[in-house]
Amino acid sequence: MVERPASAVKELVENALDAGATRMSVDIADGGKTLIRVTDDGCGMTADDLPLALSRHATSKIDGSDLLDIRSFGFRGEALPSLGAVGRLAISSRAPGQDGARIFCEGGRLGPVKPAALSRGTVVELRDLFYATPARLKFLRSDRAELQAVVEVLRRLAMAEPGAGFTLRDLTGGGEGRLLFRADAQSGDLFQALRGRLTGILGQDFTENALPVDVERDGLRLRGFAALPTYSRGSSAQQYLFVNGRPVLDRMLYGALRAAYFDVLSRDRHPAAVLNLIVDPARSM
Ligand SMILES: Nc1ncnc2c1ncn2[C@@H]1O[C@H](COP(=O)(O)OP(=O)(O)O)[C@@H](O)[C@H]1O
Ligand SMILES: [Mg+2]
Repeated sequence: MVERPASAVKELVENALDAGATRMSVDIADGGKTLIRVTDDGCGMTADDLPLALSRHATSKIDGSDLLDIRSFGFRGEALPSLGAVGRLAISSRAPGQDGARIFCEGGRLGPVKPAALSRGTVVELRDLFYATPARLKFLRSDRAELQAVVEVLRRLAMAEPGAGFTLRDLTGGGEGRLLFRADAQSGDLFQALRGRLTGILGQDFTENALPVDVERDGLRLRGFAALPTYSRGSSAQQYLFVNGRPVLDRMLYGALRAAYFDVLSRDRHPAAVLNLIVDPARSM
């Protein structure tokens, strides 16, 4: 379900990551209410793929036979059709060895596929979110608050994918826009790349006070960085947990993190950590 600009950005950036993109730029205007545009350098889509991508339950990611073995962000084939139902959606894309193509969808109605000029990858542009449902528009918060939620989504996805580069620009009022977030692609092994990424996002203070974690038990693997108790925080704002590289907001997992530090932190202090729990997707929990 697309409830607000940040959820649209999350779906679009996840699609870009699923497409193997290494650079994603997100442009936004008016808190995402008038424009959300995600440009990626991923595998792209062919002219024939475009209408399919916009039909319900069409996904290129699983064949439906094994819902328990999900390794991509997307698997339901619902994001693009829902975006095309709640706003004016335009997708331009180019797959290797193919010509670029473009499709438009508004109020759930698909337009024809037309040629488009782009060198590679995909540009998804969503304009006038909820234009046809003013009631839903009313539930959105101020542009500032919606923008902040978009930044938070990007921060999390950028922590999950340190090898990829991300930018977020606010184009409100036209012109070059204002750069709101930037995370350059990090190289090196996972821990080097993640250290670089976390220094960029959480600050050097975090990485200088955090230890790499890489442990395995009972088929579960935990990797990331956990800060020393001396670097405890006054809030839980620097707690970022992932399962198989996907940002999660699961109470039980955050409770487990708190429990792990219980003996070394006073009750009003909070640990800081960025941890990815790696589980075999086929494993029953
Ligand atoms: N940025 C992109 N690059 C390449 N293909 C894309 C991109 N975004 C969407 N697609 C294609 O469109 C399909 C539908 O996307 P979506 O509605 O988000 O469903 P899902 O991600 O669950 O498959 C995807 O399965 C994929 O084949
Ligand atoms: Mg998707």
